[in-house]
Amino acid sequence: MEFKKQTVYQIYPKSFNDSNGDGLGDLKGVTDKLLYLKELGIDYIWLTPFFVSPQNDNGYDVADYRNIDPRYGTMEDAENLISEAGKLGIGIMLDMVFNHTSTEHEWFKKAMEGDPKYMDYYIFRDPKPDGSAPTNWVSKFGGNAWEYVPKFNKYYLHLFDKTQADLNWENPQVREELKDILKFWQNKGVKGFRFDVVNLISKPDAFEDDFEGDGRRFYTDGIRVHQYLKELCRDSGLNENGMVTVGEMSSTTIDNCIRYSNPEEKELSMCFSFHHLKVDYKNGNKWELQPCDFMALKNLLNKWQIGMEEGNGWNALFWCNHDQPRVLSRFGDDKNYPTESAEMLATMIHLMRGTPYVYQGEEIGMTNAYFEDISQYKDVESLNYFKILKDEGIPEDEVYEILRCRSRDNSRTPMQWDNSENAGFTTGTPWIEVNKNYKTINADNAVKNKNSVFHYYKKLIALRKENDVIAYGSYKPEMEDNTNVFAYSREYEGKKLFVVCNFYGTETKISLPDEFVGKEILISNYKDAKAEKEVTLRPFETFAVIK
Ligand code: GLC
Repeated sequence: MEFKKQTVYQIYPKSFNDSNGDGLGDLKGVTDKLLYLKELGIDYIWLTPFFVSPQNDNGYDVADYRNIDPRYGTMEDAENLISEAGKLGIGIMLDMVFNHTSTEHEWFKKAMEGDPKYMDYYIFRDPKPDGSAPTNWVSKFGGNAWEYVPKFNKYYLHLFDKTQADLNWENPQVREELKDILKFWQNKGVKGFRFDVVNLISKPDAFEDDFEGDGRRFYTDGIRVHQYLKELCRDSGLNENGMVTVGEMSSTTIDNCIRYSNPEEKELSMCFSFHHLKVDYKNGNKWELQPCDFMALKNLLNKWQIGMEEGNGWNALFWCNHDQPRVLSRFGDDKNYPTESAEMLATMIHLMRGTPYVYQGEEIGMTNAYFEDISQYKDVESLNYFKILKDEGIPEDEVYEILRCRSRDNSRTPMQWDNSENAGFTTGTPWIEVNKNYKTINADNAVKNKNSVFHYYKKLIALRKENDVIAYGSYKPEMEDNTNVFAYSREYEGKKLFVVCNFYGTETKISLPDEFVGKEILISNYKDAKAEKEVTLRPFETFAVIK
């Protein structure tokens, strides 16, 4: 269970580093930056998809799982990256998008030629008697989740974009195909996999309208999902081969995540869940803004920590990824306390029970994009919702404000390497604009300055390796009623850790439990932190005491 001491770094290759000046990041660009990642101290790199794809969803629409999209490089570049990373002790994790394929995939093309074998790889259904879609389910990217094919007088299911057709996991041949893909990549030397929206793979036996919601209750953590995952992992040897695996679990439950990640179930190593990232969704709706509900956030994080521990499950710990806005802009204060709040947020999750994930640029305090015009946005979801929200009658300036907070493009602006043109990301024209703040916020500055967010992340990553209490300790919520402070303790074989995080930019008083008074400060984001009985926490102050 080495992954309990390890940290994963997520790379969105398109926006990481461009080696050939075409404005798109590529695999060689990743290889060129391995030493930077080594210095940070991470153990795995999860790369989002770089397989052949029309890029309607930036690679999450895969047309060929065994070949590299020429925009990202060649198979040789991929093999070279795997081996160079390996030499530095860094494992490569690939992103497997197995809920759906691109409609450009040869399976789907054959299905569209009417080949019954391949039609059964997907989910084609007859219209309702009035000709409308088989169900009223809503696509995650907006609109109905079914696309009509006139020549068959049938619809196919797409839970995401209409160019992302859902695979029919009921068909054993589909499952065999997917196992072969996993074997293919294991033979190339990868060390793990992230499985995209993998709790959506098992669809119900009968398709019916959802009169309570958007349809998700019928296919989320679906009836045969555990059976399919067990079979996939067993037959492709993932556990025997020591692969680290993480499933992206959309709208899931603790009970299901325990089953997905408890080693006895022989499914995955760990799960991403997202409830803690909906605490600023008004009425649970991503496209309605409200300030962060801090008490809800506390309760959710505590509930998942305790619940997963009780069931011997394992959490992936994260704030940021390529689908989320930057946490520093979201829950921190990127204007007045960029360093303090970035470090507080990092401490909060890195010292919890689980495996931390760092999303590219998070470790140097990158912020939201703050785009002002729709022409700057590239993401299919953002573009769809710009239209949907305006059609709902929301004034355009409000729609812009929503996108500035919620768009997935916030995290997709190019990695800021240095203060040269285009932040050193490309010598060409970047596919998406570089954030204007790159002259100050960049990796070059961050590495040189020993007091930077980068060095703080480096320390957190190292502490997990050095302290068993962080990796293996039990979790206990502390100061549960405090409306400003998030606190918890950990315990393992007689060692104890106490973590305090002031979530706000104002001072607040706490009193430390007696047993920690005068003990060693393991890490803190203000230099002179002391483990005193009565402490006035400064804006976004955090520290951990160990005994
Ligand atoms: C996951 C990915 C996201 C993608 C979607 C469809 O949520 O993280 O980027 O758009 O799945 O594949």
